[in-house]
Amino acid sequence: MAKHDFKFLVVSSQNAVSKEAVEILCRQIKKKPNLVLGLATGTTMKPFYKELIKHCKRCKLDFSKVKTFNLDEYSGLSEGDKHSLRHFMENNFFKHVNISKKNIYFLHGDRRNYRKECSDYEKRIKSFGGIDIQVLGIGVNGHIGFNEPGSSFKSRTRRVKLSSKTRKSNSEDFPSLSSVPKYALTVGIGTIMDSRKILLLAVGDKKSWAVKKALSKKISTKVPASILRRHKDIEFIIDSRVASDIKLLM
Ligand code: F6R
Repeated sequence: MAKHDFKFLVVSSQNAVSKEAVEILCRQIKKKPNLVLGLATGTTMKPFYKELIKHCKRCKLDFSKVKTFNLDEYSGLSEGDKHSLRHFMENNFFKHVNISKKNIYFLHGDRRNYRKECSDYEKRIKSFGGIDIQVLGIGVNGHIGFNEPGSSFKSRTRRVKLSSKTRKSNSEDFPSLSSVPKYALTVGIGTIMDSRKILLLAVGDKKSWAVKKALSKKISTKVPASILRRHKDIEFIIDSRVASDIKLLM
């Protein structure tokens, strides 16, 4: 596998992380209005979407031709479920911009035939020529999407078991830990690596272990995000709290 350089940007705050990422993304949408965009959910993404919505309004950015593919969805949850990631996206982003409903693609966590659901999703991404930009967060254990430690770097979209760390970390969005689904559908690491450009956003000291490991010399499936350093066009955008504990190993 070829070795690639990667861009690494440390900014002062969570707000600044969102602003940087939004600027990069908006430049790309202006260049290619029918961009295929890979999206993530989670607490890191909330201020990013807020900033993106603001930017869309301020700069009249047109989302009508942009296609979006979200990374993941909890198994068993329908898109109308208020704990679903689809619901998160609707509330935090989709309903605030002029994206066309038909251009929103999402894994359906409640489809019985989840294998077909996952392979159809892969085919759909391919049919649009692949993801142009993938926006990523990172889990406290280094996961990307719901690709937990141990996931193959070649993995494609599939059903996965969530680690107890991830379930605990995501339990704030649920009434109790036991109600957090045990399984999820996620785009694979191989699928993520096929994206033409990747932006990874990380904020807060909770993420510093994962980012440190992802940037360290050792690329290992124990830290799924570590493979990203081999991507030909990746930018890590992190805040100073993430960076405080990182001795740069580059
Ligand atoms: C969710 C996703 C996850 C999150 C990660 C960080 O769609 O892809 O990999 O990006 O779990 O989540 P937060 O930002 O909530 O810490």
